[in-house]
Amino acid sequence: MNTIQSQFVEKVLLGGKSLQKAEGSAFAPSNIALCKYWGKRDAGLNLPINSSLSISLGELGTHTKIRLREREDVVCLNGVQQADESGFVQRIKAFLDLFRPVLGSAFFEVRTQNNISTAAGLASSASGFAALVLALDNMAGWGLDRKQLSMLARLGSGSASRSVYEGFVQWNAGQLSDGTDSFAERLEIEWPELRVGIVEVSADQKPVGSRDGMNRTVATSELYKSWPDQARADLLSIRSAIEQLDFTLLGKTAERNALAMHATMLSAWPPLLYLQPDSVEQIHKVQRTRADGLEVYLTIDAGPNIKLLFLAENECEVCGAFPGIRVIRPFPQL
Ligand code: PMV
Repeated sequence: MNTIQSQFVEKVLLGGKSLQKAEGSAFAPSNIALCKYWGKRDAGLNLPINSSLSISLGELGTHTKIRLREREDVVCLNGVQQADESGFVQRIKAFLDLFRPVLGSAFFEVRTQNNISTAAGLASSASGFAALVLALDNMAGWGLDRKQLSMLARLGSGSASRSVYEGFVQWNAGQLSDGTDSFAERLEIEWPELRVGIVEVSADQKPVGSRDGMNRTVATSELYKSWPDQARADLLSIRSAIEQLDFTLLGKTAERNALAMHATMLSAWPPLLYLQPDSVEQIHKVQRTRADGLEVYLTIDAGPNIKLLFLAENECEVCGAFPGIRVIRPFPQL
């Protein structure tokens, strides 16, 4: 049991309240960071070194149902019960451990349904932990606000702190050592014309998870030293791009930010190379397409898949240039 984390949970829940129902359910969207979170200032409380900014992916994400059980936890992913010793179940159980004291040492059945690839850099852990926290809140009847939900989701996975909201979301790194100022907030700006395209290079489980990847980068990468300053500057540019609906500035900054993060990974030891040959081919293709006059940018997380950024007016052309992409409209359409 992680005592620092369970004390944090009690603090956020303000002592906790009694359980209202025997089951709960929720949906949380996946999100893609335009300015990435990479590196922790506190591993115990999952506090980031830099603030980050993301866009939630609308209907793409995780549906979770949770139910009380008398004996042992059961975890199902996409309709299939998962082996107890799998990393997936271990992470969920460790997270539930934080809530058992306030929920009367209960056991749970967790049924989670992803409509995105699990652990292939499509941020399913973000929507997964956010949906789990929302489902717990729904079951317990805590009535937590988004800031509290964001802080709790953060303990499961940093990027999950952003998945408790739709739209553009900024996760403020915060400065306090107790973690109470590190939570995400929604930016009240809509951009209905914005599109995200997913180029799925591989749905395989990545060999090094983002938690280990970022810890290794912070500990060993010389290039990481410049990352916090770059992330700070990129976040400001992305915010002003969103405020002015300046797509060129948004795209350029997001692409540069993602590639700079990959540069810090490459200079870690042992080096971290999440990109596959097909990912590199797609990166070249985006550059060529742009040089030919079609405005499309990319971003990549800790995985091989490429996410494209473009505007509605170019949707047909982008789909023609990248056949088979999944197009997401993060905002309601007018
Ligand atoms: O939340 P984690 O621990 O899965 O880390 C996410 C890291 C990146 O996806 C690479 C960046 C981000 O901000 O989502």
